[in-house]
Amino acid sequence: MKISNRASSFSYAIRDILSVAKEVEEKGHKLIKLNIGDPIKYDFKTPDILTEQLKYAKTENYNFYADSQGLPEFREQVANYENRKHGLNISKENVLATSGVSEGIAFTFMAFTNEGDDVLIPGIHYPSYSGNSSIYGTNSIFYKTVVEENFYPDPDEIRSLMTEKTKLVFLNTPNNPTGSVYPEKVIKEIVDIVGEYDACIVSDETYDQLILDDELKHVPTAKVAKDVPVIAYNGFSKVFLAPGWRLGYIYVHDPEGKIEEPWEGINKLARIRLCASTPLQKAGTEALKVDQSVYLPKVIEDLRKRRDLMYNRLKEMDSISVYKPQAAFYIFPVLNMEQFTWKNDKEFVIDFLKKKHVLTVFGTGFGPYGKNGFRMVFLPTAEEIDESMNRLEEILKENRK
Ligand SMILES: Cc1ncc(COP(=O)(O)O)c(C=O)c1O
Repeated sequence: MKISNRASSFSYAIRDILSVAKEVEEKGHKLIKLNIGDPIKYDFKTPDILTEQLKYAKTENYNFYADSQGLPEFREQVANYENRKHGLNISKENVLATSGVSEGIAFTFMAFTNEGDDVLIPGIHYPSYSGNSSIYGTNSIFYKTVVEENFYPDPDEIRSLMTEKTKLVFLNTPNNPTGSVYPEKVIKEIVDIVGEYDACIVSDETYDQLILDDELKHVPTAKVAKDVPVIAYNGFSKVFLAPGWRLGYIYVHDPEGKIEEPWEGINKLARIRLCASTPLQKAGTEALKVDQSVYLPKVIEDLRKRRDLMYNRLKEMDSISVYKPQAAFYIFPVLNMEQFTWKNDKEFVIDFLKKKHVLTVFGTGFGPYGKNGFRMVFLPTAEEIDESMNRLEEILKENRK
């Protein structure tokens, strides 16, 4: 039998590179892995304020099917948490529990788009956006995000790309894979542009609490959106260091009821998978009541030190442009490929993996504007970061024209 068009249209660079990594490991080499945004694969630990709450599965038998929209107490705590953090004004009716933000992304495509609709996506982006776009048959229209412009979107360009066919405009701040945090002005301008169309902003705020520089602040899109509809995502994978829990949520900002129908559509579609995991929603509910200062400042301090180390090493290297990530745990350097023997970013990443045993992800796996770039995580220990940077320096030297 043949694979479906839907499945064959789809590829996922972050995981696709793993088959080459496996070959290298099978030859007996130990890899330095800078490829995956999972803090638990390194020396970070899920905070007790979350894991301790799993007890409710035992003590209160939280093992039943929850409502498809989510446990009411979970949705209520999410609304409180978002309102508290960001000065929003959402209620539990505006929240839906998902199996990770990933499920929220898929639901959004299912409920908001038809085949042939346009979806605006950052030129370098978390691959699930374009992946879902190919699965659901929408046109991915990529807007420019480049290192020279701090990977910020350009509102004027977004204006030029908007048409009557545009249904969704994805924003991801703080951003994966660049660590860029969009300024309020940029977000506001984009909101105003989208407001002129029958379209919705999708704001992925998965890394909102992982801002590494004190002077910066995350600006939630819903906060500046006024009457423009926003679908926002967040979850427990990154800020709560629990990616394996697969717990996330969607919240909707829609003061004028412009997206009532697709929001109802998401709620209807959610019934097909019955519910997000009940014991985890209960644990999440309880964890959201606790002050995050018991674990988060330490995580940010560790990330900041590791970011500084990797960034400072990269900055010293020739023929490489690097933007200092302001958030999350990713850095996205761009090679001046003309100076090197490699043809493109993929060839470089595979060579780096095979010769120096350092696993990174090639830039074009994150979209067309990822050309000549590569993504690394700065989650490993200082020793490993230092060693990986030594090896990067070596391979750049060995392959300089
Ligand atoms: C920007 C962004 N959105 C969504 C996700 C997926 O998150 P989840 O684990 O909640 O499905 C990730 C994971 O890396 C991400 O970086």
